[in-house]
Amino acid sequence: MCKKLILSSRYISKIDSFKIDSGKVAFALPSNIALVKYWGKRPVQIPENTSLSFTLSTCRTETSVEFQRKRTKDLGIKFSFLFAGKSKPSFEPKIQTFLERVEPYFSFLKDFDFVINSKNTFPHSSGIASSASGMSALAQCFVAIEAKLGGSFSESEQIEKASFIARLGSGSACRSLEGPITIWGSHPKIEGSSDEFAIKFNLPIHTIFQNYQDTVLLIDKGEKQVSSTVGHGLMHEHPFAKQRFAQANENIEKLSAVLQTGNIDGFIKIVESEALTLHAMMMTSQPYFILMKPKTFEVINHIWSFREKTNIPVCFTLDAGANVHVLYPEKYKDKVLEFIKKKLAGHCQNKQYICDYVGNGAVLL
Ligand code: DP6
Repeated sequence: MCKKLILSSRYISKIDSFKIDSGKVAFALPSNIALVKYWGKRPVQIPENTSLSFTLSTCRTETSVEFQRKRTKDLGIKFSFLFAGKSKPSFEPKIQTFLERVEPYFSFLKDFDFVINSKNTFPHSSGIASSASGMSALAQCFVAIEAKLGGSFSESEQIEKASFIARLGSGSACRSLEGPITIWGSHPKIEGSSDEFAIKFNLPIHTIFQNYQDTVLLIDKGEKQVSSTVGHGLMHEHPFAKQRFAQANENIEKLSAVLQTGNIDGFIKIVESEALTLHAMMMTSQPYFILMKPKTFEVINHIWSFREKTNIPVCFTLDAGANVHVLYPEKYKDKVLEFIKKKLAGHCQNKQYICDYVGNGAVLL
């Protein structure tokens, strides 16, 4: 059953008369990789614990939305959707659901026809979650349209609203609007943190973390057997849920200190433990499931031996799949990339990996 949306009235902007009848907006929004994981939510898209992520740069969705005032009066939401220039009917129901869900926050939605054109810069069906970049791009575009039509929100309010709207599409998407680090979910020790939208990590970040590298190893590009949405749901009856949510909130505090002091050993301990705990939750759900593949484990073992042998502080994290994100400071880039080429690329499907790094969120195109 669809849970009724409780309106947050501060995100509603009344536009008395539209400033323009047609136009176009276009933005690129990156994916993000969580260091402290969001796994478990309540309706509607409220996280059970605080999460924190690096905003990425290379893995991004570029979306444009053209809008044209309707000539005839009808009460529906009208859009057409193109993916990389071609029609993609399989994506339409998801966008329809999203637009219906956010319609109470965009009073103009039924007055215009929209043409949405999206493309991802990362390989299609690479196993990389495109919902974070895709949904945040869509949210950002509609907030920008509202501003063009005469909405009254300031720039910072627009960022907050875009994050709020993105969250309603996909939880983790709300963390992609800004960078280099964002936090989502209210936490007693993080000022300004909220369950409704993500905020920029607002304490000084040690230089070592400001240009951190994330090389994404594409271990398995196949369709996941269990979607994130189902996985989140399994946290409801999970025997370790309470401890897990408490642990994540403690890790936020610890990581917050580490990010300021530049304590890389502390960083590695928290980040790898978070990745394995996420998958441990999956393995101890009812029904239980495993998203890692044998090659995921092989890669992890290689990373651990390389770190031990070289003292280079490289570590890994995982999202809800088999792919491995290799994280390391920029100054070790050459050595780590050499290691990846030699030892890890062979474990990737078609030897494919993507070199990404932390970035700053929405880019106007
Ligand atoms: C493992 O944001 O994809 O990547 O809110 O149902 O769309 P929905 O889930 P989603 O979950 C992401 C889970 C994760 C961890 C994280 O990004 O924090």
